[in-house]
Amino acid sequence: MNITAPLVVHEYGEIFDQRGSLYHDAMLSCPTARDAEFSSLFAKAPLKVGECLVDVPSGGGYLEAFLKRKMPGTTPSVHNFELTSGFGAKSTVVSLNSPWPIAAKSADRVVCLAAVHHIQDLSPLYSNVESALKSGGVFHLADVAPGSGVQAFLETFVDRHTPGGHRGFYRDFFAQVVPPRFDLIDVSRRACPWTFESVDQMLSFCAGLFGLQTCSKAELEVALRDCIGVNVHSSGVSLSWELAYLDMQLK
Ligand SMILES: C[S@@+](CC[C@H](N)C(=O)[O-])C[C@H]1O[C@@H](n2cnc3c(N)ncnc32)[C@H](O)[C@@H]1O
Repeated sequence: MNITAPLVVHEYGEIFDQRGSLYHDAMLSCPTARDAEFSSLFAKAPLKVGECLVDVPSGGGYLEAFLKRKMPGTTPSVHNFELTSGFGAKSTVVSLNSPWPIAAKSADRVVCLAAVHHIQDLSPLYSNVESALKSGGVFHLADVAPGSGVQAFLETFVDRHTPGGHRGFYRDFFAQVVPPRFDLIDVSRRACPWTFESVDQMLSFCAGLFGLQTCSKAELEVALRDCIGVNVHSSGVSLSWELAYLDMQLK
C-alpha cells in the first residue's frame, strides 16, 4: 500500500521570527552570493533611473543592498516591507492582509522574491500590489519551480534538518493565469547561480540561510551536489540555483 504523508505546512511567521537572524547573518557574510538571483529579476524589464520599488518580503533589505552596489548614485528608492520581525530593523514589518504604508499608485515596481511558496492564498498580496503600483507598473514574482532541483533540496533535505521543516506551495508559473488587471510580460526559468570563494563558504552560507541544525557539512555538500549541482572552478564555486520568474504589468 502506498501511504502518502499529508502535507503539513508550518506557520512561516513563527519560523522566520526564530530563524530570520541566522538567514540575515548568512546574507551579511556573503553579500554578493545571490547577485545573479537579484539581477535576473530585471532581465526582461530593465530598471530605469529614478524608479520607486517595493520589495516584499524583503528580509533584511538584500535587494536594496544589491542595487546600491550595482547602481551607485542612481539607486532606485526602495520600500523594504517584511512579514516577520526576525530580520532586524532595516525593514518595516507589514501584513499581507492590511494596507501597506505606501501612498496608493506610487510604486513603479513591486518585487516578491523567493517567498510565495510560503503563502497559500496570494489574493491579499495581489490586492496590496495593485494598490501600490502605478498604472503601467511592473510586478516581479520569482520563486522555486515545482519539479526543480531546488524544490527537491528544500522539500527533502532542508525539511529534514531545519526546525519546523520546510514544506511549501510551489506554483507552476507557466500554467498560472495572471490576474485580470495585469498583462503578462514574461515567464521563464532563469539560471541564477549562487557564487562563493570556496566550498566551505558555500556550506556555511547554506547552513545559516536554511537554518540547518541536524546535518553535517559533508551531508549538506552531498545534498547540494545531488539536488542542485555544484561547480568548482579556478575563480571559486558556484551552486546552480535557478528560479521561475514571472513579470507582469498593471494595466
Ligand atoms: C526565503 S525568505 C526570502 C526573503 C527575501 N525576499 C530574499 O530573497 O532574501 C522568505 C520570506 O518569506 C517571508 N514569509 C513568507 N510567507 C510568510 C508568512 N506567511 N508569514 C511570515 N513570513 C512569511 C519570510 O518572512 C521571509 O522574508
